Amino acid sequence: MTRSIAWQDGVIEAVDQCALPHEFRLLRLRTVDEVIDAIQRLAIRGAPAIGVAGALAVAQSARAHTRDAVCDELAVRAEAQRIADARPTAVNLSWAVRRVLGVLGGGPDAVLAEALQILVEDEERNRSAAGHAADLVLRLCGRKPLRLLTHCNTGRLATVAWGTALGAIRVLAEAGQVDEVLFGETRPLLQGARLTAWELAEAGIPHRMLVDSAGPAALAAGMVDCVLVGADRVCANGDVANKIGTYSLALAASRARVPFVVVAPESTLDTSLASGADIVIEERAASEVTGYGGLAVAPAGTGAFNPAFDVTPAELVTAVVTESGLFHPQETLGELAS
Ligand code: MRU
Repeated sequence: MTRSIAWQDGVIEAVDQCALPHEFRLLRLRTVDEVIDAIQRLAIRGAPAIGVAGALAVAQSARAHTRDAVCDELAVRAEAQRIADARPTAVNLSWAVRRVLGVLGGGPDAVLAEALQILVEDEERNRSAAGHAADLVLRLCGRKPLRLLTHCNTGRLATVAWGTALGAIRVLAEAGQVDEVLFGETRPLLQGARLTAWELAEAGIPHRMLVDSAGPAALAAGMVDCVLVGADRVCANGDVANKIGTYSLALAASRARVPFVVVAPESTLDTSLASGADIVIEERAASEVTGYGGLAVAPAGTGAFNPAFDVTPAELVTAVVTESGLFHPQETLGELAS
């Protein structure tokens, strides 16, 4: 499986997630501003992917601000702050930027080596988390092959490779344990319809799309054995920020007594925040909701509340699964915080 992000002689190559599913093409990003723009347009998106892109952008900055072997650290730190601020909710971005800044004293080569280490680890950690999650799902669910419900895109596009929740679905499918994957179209930017559908088709996994509001109805109708989603930030008490629409699936899963499993690398854990109430939720432009593809779907002048994420309280989460294994939010994440 080719990686969704790579470093080629100072250029960040990344799959252009705005072009899919119509076209598979690579972005070639040469500057910090180009990377910030790609992250903000969601051409690079998904918590782990923006973390890796952010780290590589700091490496570009360190190169650009080094003359005669002297690195202008103040200039690099200022650009690093702009990169970390490009999107506020997924903690992976600021985590990765902070991690590479930790070796800035070693110069641009050290920053690049650290960024490439984050890239390599992302694939390894997500494969490991996906494997643990697949094991858990097989233990939790009696009926097999499984009917799974997921949301947004948590696959190879949202990470360096393989994916988190969609990675677990890949593991289960390879084991012949998947009957069908349902997924929400993921309004407003259709990460489910455009990206998850593309990845599931590519992997040959049976799938059907739902409008987002049909997810709770599918759960109530007994059509789902397990919900598997990713995360943008998991707090010390186990509250989970993820793509808008996740919370309603968690409520419906709880009501239907269906397991609700979150799969994420440990770089998504933020034990500095006590609860989801402290998470900054990105609000995006009203135009993403009042129109699509250049076509207005609401009368001119209609205002909109357009949060990119919501927070699912820990009590609705069956388990948060990372590369280290299974964590029950209240018990284990609380311990990590102390
Ligand atoms: O706005 P997006 O598309 O970046 O939102 C992505 C999600 O909410 C994903 O579920 C999350 O980042 C996990 S990706 C492995």
